[in-house]
Amino acid sequence: MIYFDNAATSFPKPPEVLAQITACICDLGGNPGRGAHRLSLAAAKMVYTCREAASTFLGAAAPEQIVFTQSTTYALNIALWGLVSEGCHVLCSDIEHNAVMRPLYALQVARHISLDSFCTVDKSDDEILQDIMQKIRPDTRLLVCTHASNICSIKLPIAKIGALCRANGITFVVDAAQSAGHLPIDMTAMQIDALALPAHKGLFGIQGCGVLALAPHVKPMPLVQGGSGYDSRAHDMPPSLPEHLEAGTLPTPAISGLLGGIGFVGSLGLAEIENRTKALFLAARERLESLAGFRIYQAAHAGPVLLFSHDTRSATSLARLLDKAGIATRAGLHCAPLAHAALGTPEGGAVRISFSPFNTLKEIDALWQALKA
Ligand code: ALA
Repeated sequence: MIYFDNAATSFPKPPEVLAQITACICDLGGNPGRGAHRLSLAAAKMVYTCREAASTFLGAAAPEQIVFTQSTTYALNIALWGLVSEGCHVLCSDIEHNAVMRPLYALQVARHISLDSFCTVDKSDDEILQDIMQKIRPDTRLLVCTHASNICSIKLPIAKIGALCRANGITFVVDAAQSAGHLPIDMTAMQIDALALPAHKGLFGIQGCGVLALAPHVKPMPLVQGGSGYDSRAHDMPPSLPEHLEAGTLPTPAISGLLGGIGFVGSLGLAEIENRTKALFLAARERLESLAGFRIYQAAHAGPVLLFSHDTRSATSLARLLDKAGIATRAGLHCAPLAHAALGTPEGGAVRISFSPFNTLKEIDALWQALKA
């Protein structure tokens, strides 16, 4: 199997990550924060070590600002439902995933917010910033956007948007689902107030754990209430982070995978990961361009994600044929219909190939041969 669906979830996982998860399940079997016995304490120590690693990796102010969630979607929902107030104005980009758009649509109904999007496709950083500035209103309270698209390799000028938001008193929420493990993130330097990301994509962990990293001045209302392991008589969630937002048992094995994955990405280095995925993108682009009938979207933006369609074959039928040839891709709208509309893909969407540093140029050749056939 040739696996080109790393934007959905990375595969395979590095052996050191798998070893760490196995060791967690075998040796740290207790529930962190839910007992004073050695297995619970050992699990709690590992969880805190992961908070420290994530905090350093993401440029957070302290390990306590790292909240573990079930996924990026949960992290974004906590941030959006917890920070968006009744009747305010919210800005987002035109390439957002449904993990951002669906909570915003629900907030339009539940809290009567108004929503505007700024343009990113075929725009320079300055043009993106100008569009944002034009759309900021006196009642704009929050801006949420992706760091990197999930359907192509466009990335947004997060540090510049962060500075603009801070200068205008706007809370800045970033979806790093596709950038964590690919692009440098320093949430303090980039002036990000809330940052959501998964363990299981570019950070090579497994499904079941996401992160919501919060700036010290930001404290969303909890979306879910439940046990926190202490202060059991209180009717409210504990006021301090991370427990304020972590109701119920944590996904300890997935957190250990995140810890292993952060270590793996740190030792390989983001520059090396970028070099490898860019080389794969450029090779795939060159081969696709040599074939008649194919269209590549945002071809100038080289990175871990390449999107293409064919003049006569639908995206789904192409992906099915590629699967028969042993090549895993993802076709359709990728939960990002607005991004597809902005890119002008066909009605049925397009085919996405997404790389990890484990992919090889030989695999790109196999894709080329399969598409030729
Ligand atoms: N959000 C993931 C993707 O883009 C699942 O494929």
